[in-house]
Amino acid sequence: MEHIDSYAVFGHPIEHSKSPLIHKLFAIQTEQQIEYTSQNVPADQFIKTVSSFFEQGGKGLNCTLPLKELAWEYAECKTERAEISKAVNTLAMQSDGTVLGDNTDGHGLIKDLITNNSINLSNIKILVLGAGGASRGIIGPLLEKNPERIVIANRTINKAKNLAEEFNKKGEIYGCGFESLKNQQFDLIINATSASLSSQLPPLPSDLLIKEGNCYDLAYGNEPTTFVRWGIKINASKSMDGLGMLVEQAAEAFFIWRGINPETKPVIDFINSQRVN
Ligand code: ATR
Repeated sequence: MEHIDSYAVFGHPIEHSKSPLIHKLFAIQTEQQIEYTSQNVPADQFIKTVSSFFEQGGKGLNCTLPLKELAWEYAECKTERAEISKAVNTLAMQSDGTVLGDNTDGHGLIKDLITNNSINLSNIKILVLGAGGASRGIIGPLLEKNPERIVIANRTINKAKNLAEEFNKKGEIYGCGFESLKNQQFDLIINATSASLSSQLPPLPSDLLIKEGNCYDLAYGNEPTTFVRWGIKINASKSMDGLGMLVEQAAEAFFIWRGINPETKPVIDFINSQRVN
């Protein structure tokens, strides 16, 4: 019988994950024989479930909320970008039997901004909203593109300041609260808070974005998120959600597992075509 390599995404909840569809489309496009399933795994079941997945011959996993920090702890060796972000979204069984942990989220965001949306990141002022795990995963890759400055604004001010301090050897970066954003303007505003998930928005001045500036929400949904709608309202040149980032981070995981770069545009276009407009 032909052997089929097995992959999966673990998360809690997981029902609405687009990862199985994305990887199925990549596999068809690149003629790879793989299976990719999704499994609802609460945090307290993670170690048991992930160990049994790899013991049964599983080749690779994606881990999403709330498992990325646990996956980081589980991985026996890690890439530098995973080490820095303290979160792992991709696990890969290596030929020597050890499990590698990587974080492809930041790469996915940069690829979607620069390649898919032609947004230049060098010498611009970037505002990152939120100072949790999602922000930590994108700050390093953003700084590598040499922006003029990154400001992290967060409801809990100390978290923003501490996160900025962790990265301040790599570039100009400051942490503050939302009140300090008055009289500041940015070329790009990235929403990395989990506020979108509950249709909420941090308190933001309406003149926060320069003319022709752009907005990006790491979250995505079938309909425009609250932050995407805010971006449209304040006349952002582009107000994007995280679908492109999701597909790009998946493509990088696919490359880690299969050594092949799938084309992302047809996959993004297909999922976009299925959205409610
Ligand atoms: P994630 O891994 O998605 O980043 P997290 O680590 O729990 O999740 O971080 C969630 C982020 O969203 C935090 O920055 C949080 O702010 P606090 O640090 O002050 O808790 C932010 N957040 C969540 N709900 C929010 C809301 N309604 N308004 C503003 N910020 C919010």
